[in-house]
Amino acid sequence: MIIATAHQEDIIERAGLALRHGKLVIFPTETVYGIGAAADNPHAVARLYEVKNRPKFNPLIVHCANQEMAFKLVKVTKLAKQLGDAFWPGPMSLVLTCLEDSPICALARAGLDSIALRVPSNPICQKLLEVAGIPVVAPSANPSGKLSPTNVKHLEKELIANCAAVIDAGRCSKGIESTIIDARNEMPVLLRQGPITKYDINTKAKLQCLFPEQTVGQKPIAPGLLASHYAPSAELRLNANQKQPGEIFIGFDSPTADFNLTSKGDLLEAAANLFDMLHLADKQKPVRIAIAPIPNNGIGEAINERLARAAAPRNVPTIEQNGQKT
Ligand code: TXA
Ligand code: MG
Repeated sequence: MIIATAHQEDIIERAGLALRHGKLVIFPTETVYGIGAAADNPHAVARLYEVKNRPKFNPLIVHCANQEMAFKLVKVTKLAKQLGDAFWPGPMSLVLTCLEDSPICALARAGLDSIALRVPSNPICQKLLEVAGIPVVAPSANPSGKLSPTNVKHLEKELIANCAAVIDAGRCSKGIESTIIDARNEMPVLLRQGPITKYDINTKAKLQCLFPEQTVGQKPIAPGLLASHYAPSAELRLNANQKQPGEIFIGFDSPTADFNLTSKGDLLEAAANLFDMLHLADKQKPVRIAIAPIPNNGIGEAINERLARAAAPRNVPTIEQNGQKT
């Protein structure tokens, strides 16, 4: 484990390579310190959820070195271009529709067809992302439910112990998490308030903002606000011990299952495979998807939380995204 200061370029280089190789790295941004993993690597992302002890698979923000790299991953709207030009690099994340062939793994997206993109302005972070050369997902570098760190002194030892590197660049200048804007339609929808304010959007980008509650009844509501966002089209039967006629069976340590989340009782492997296997099972248009019981410990809790949502009655709006700690 390495603690680097801002001027140790070789250490930033090594940290960038560590990210590329699927390791976790804690790094500064202008908002808060993030704990990063390669966005295209489901095993690295599963480890990230685990070390954060994140009880749910909330979609993660994808960090890119520049706007060009970010916009290669999504369907770019006119609104996204306007907002990107006005506020990137900087403390703003844009939710956009992910391209089908985008490398961002399904676990990082929590199975959604959209992603939140961010191009941070912190120069150390930019250098790290350039060296890594890949999109990097990064939630705040705190155990779930705890305060976000704005200084390496806030970092918990246990989290540090799970990382290949920690880059210390002093205090984060903004100190609160990025503003999240849904930019898929014509008007910006403010999903999370942050350093870029409604006033900034109004004055600098000359755009009027909506809040999610103002979009209910219009198309489309932010996916994170639905009790059942990515749910397969097929009905889901949980805690299934065996396959019934017409079902596709997703097993846990079950070699005879149609899809086996893991063959060695490994919850991390199961988490890494979860969304892909749900997609693959759904593609076969079964009567139902049956899924074996998943041990409810460690990252298994997040798997079970996600499965409960995927099995929930469809399209029931909740407001749980607002104010949550992640
Ligand atoms: O400032 C920040 O944004 C920090 C630094 C490290 O960049 N990161 C951060 O990540 O705050 P996190 O994981 O703590 O918060 C991510 C938020 C969650 O509320 C999640 O639901 C939302 O972003 N989000 C991610 N992808 C989304 C999507 N496709 N649609 C709607 N919300 C999304
Ligand atoms: Mg957070």
